[in-house]
Amino acid sequence: MLQKIIILGTGGTIAGLAADPSQPDRYVAAQLAVSQLVEALPEGHGRFEWQAQQLAQVDSKDMDEPTWRRLLARMLDLIRDPDVDALVVTHGTDTLEETAFLLSVVLPLHKPVILTGAMRPANAPDADGPRNLSDALSAASRLPGGVWVVFAGQVYPASQIQKVHPTALDPFRSVCGLSWPLAQLGDGAGTPWDTRPDGRWPDAARVLASPWPRVELVLSHADAQPWWLPALIDDAVQPPLQGLVIAGTGNATWPQRWSQALAVLMHKGVRIWLCSRCADGLATPGSHEGLTTVAWTPVQARIGLMLQLLTEAPAEPVL
Ligand code: SIN
Repeated sequence: MLQKIIILGTGGTIAGLAADPSQPDRYVAAQLAVSQLVEALPEGHGRFEWQAQQLAQVDSKDMDEPTWRRLLARMLDLIRDPDVDALVVTHGTDTLEETAFLLSVVLPLHKPVILTGAMRPANAPDADGPRNLSDALSAASRLPGGVWVVFAGQVYPASQIQKVHPTALDPFRSVCGLSWPLAQLGDGAGTPWDTRPDGRWPDAARVLASPWPRVELVLSHADAQPWWLPALIDDAVQPPLQGLVIAGTGNATWPQRWSQALAVLMHKGVRIWLCSRCADGLATPGSHEGLTTVAWTPVQARIGLMLQLLTEAPAEPVL
């Protein structure tokens, strides 16, 4: 029997078009429907039973909580549907790292979920979307349950990727060095593989049933001044700040002159996590003076802290 794969489209460059294909760097993301992307695959789409669903149509710089909620809810329904074998999600690469991390820590792991995208618009001479989508569909029948990213011929555990290049055709790397050439994957999915970082992760149903705590991300840098930090807890700004991630210098350090302002934030109940702003390598995890350092990328840490705070809060319905 043919495998049934649902392909969820969210937009991105993979669905983008350039007004002039000879100038592919000038394009608008999220123009083509995901069904058009599948129908245009050169080797056809009769290898599996497929259904395309357009969940969103955004440039992923505009990815937001409402869209993530819709995506999570739809994916949860599809994963629970016994007729569905695997899911593929097309997504812009700019925030794919964040969506991949969120999905990989809250979704059940028993079906393969593959995220992919492209670095060139669909009508560029060197468009990479068709190959990435075709690879993602092929990987959907060969990977075990869990959340994966398939891009530029590589397979990555979705909780481990980071976008490290703004224009290269292979812009991702694995923060823990874990990735494989797609060509090395065998047939036969095997048992689900949990590649989530250690931690108490809420399941998707809980995440959908709760308000998401407000967590901000700031970057520490030379000559960084502290005066604006207390403004983060201005009562006039709602919802109130519950968490702050500092992408710190080096091994997750911050300027001495921030110390007093950070103490005020902590006194007001704001949870502060540190990570490293370095492009290569992660901070050494640990806890010191009420601050927690995590070995995640800054944007992963923001989602991780949000989920941690959500897990600790009593469940309350979303209005
Ligand atoms: C986006 O993230 O939607 C635009 C950039 C890309 O997909 O590479």
